[in-house]
Amino acid sequence: MQTLTITTPDDWHLHFRDNEMLAETVPATARCFQRAIVMPNLVPPVVNADMAIAYKQRIEAARPQGSDFTPLMTLFLTNQTTAQDIVDAKQAGVTACKLYPAGATTNSDAAVKGIEALYPVFEAMQAEGLLLLIHGEVTEHHIDIFDREKVFIDKHLSLIVNAFPKLKVVFEHITTADAAAFVKEASDFVGATITPQHLLLNRNDLLVGGVRPHNYCLPVLKRNTHQQALRDVVATGHKRFFLGTDSAPHAKHKKENACGCAGCYSAWSAIELYAEVFEQLGAIDKLEGFASHNGADFYGLPRNTTTITLEKNQWQVPEQVTLADGTDMVPFYAGQPLQWKLKSAFNPR
Ligand code: NCD
Ligand code: ZN
Repeated sequence: MQTLTITTPDDWHLHFRDNEMLAETVPATARCFQRAIVMPNLVPPVVNADMAIAYKQRIEAARPQGSDFTPLMTLFLTNQTTAQDIVDAKQAGVTACKLYPAGATTNSDAAVKGIEALYPVFEAMQAEGLLLLIHGEVTEHHIDIFDREKVFIDKHLSLIVNAFPKLKVVFEHITTADAAAFVKEASDFVGATITPQHLLLNRNDLLVGGVRPHNYCLPVLKRNTHQQALRDVVATGHKRFFLGTDSAPHAKHKKENACGCAGCYSAWSAIELYAEVFEQLGAIDKLEGFASHNGADFYGLPRNTTTITLEKNQWQVPEQVTLADGTDMVPFYAGQPLQWKLKSAFNPR
């Protein structure tokens, strides 16, 4: 059987949630990822070093036996965040801070209104070497949801990267040709993550033939020309684009709802979903850079020393997973076939 061995990958953007949910989400990711950037949008959000350390310990306690999976922690920026919070975070080993424009997505009501007010905080991050991770969408009601990423680039992101040329900025879960072009043209201090859903799907997969709530995430899926631009950029192996699943679990009943939650739970098939994309693109040789090298290089962290092996062996993503407390969740790509399957992980070189 055809196999593919790559350096162990990392997930540079995901949501573990908290408490009982960690018993599900942490093993799912620790299955094949060595590290992950953990989003701080809990209720209440992770806004300081103490909260990040406590959350990190809860995640570590949920690792499978023998796993040395490493969560990389982030702070949730608010209008109350101070430069001292950044200094403390750096000292506590926090890796990055997440900027959510207020109301942009799940649990982001506490987030930032008036991004310019945070410039002193960005200054401190630049000085301390913390990365700025951005959910790049404006939230003004009169801006069409499909235009919100592009407007964010023009109104905010281009100003931030100009004002802080030595601040490492990750434009998270990009969804448009505009975002891909912006990052390509930016300096080496600007990178981007791309999710499996934005590479595999477009807005037809959300809306044609009925609303498909399990394909609903934010930023929302865009038209196929944007999907194509994202596929093109990863197929070229560009070094400042890397894997970030944005795996974001919600209970089935909260997604299949008159006001369904945004987020796709992709952790259990994450690396296989990306392998599917690169296989479709005829660029499977570019998977390793995207999944295992580019992110670590951008963050200034060592590449992982072990490998994982995938085999070409068609399988089907499960229709449903059930948590210990009985909560049902529908994984992303449920019931659909994938060509590559994880065979072994964390193999010595
Ligand atoms: C995320 C979540 O559920 O926490 N949802 C999503 O659609 N991606 C939040 C986020 O990353 O925007
Ligand atoms: Zn996210």
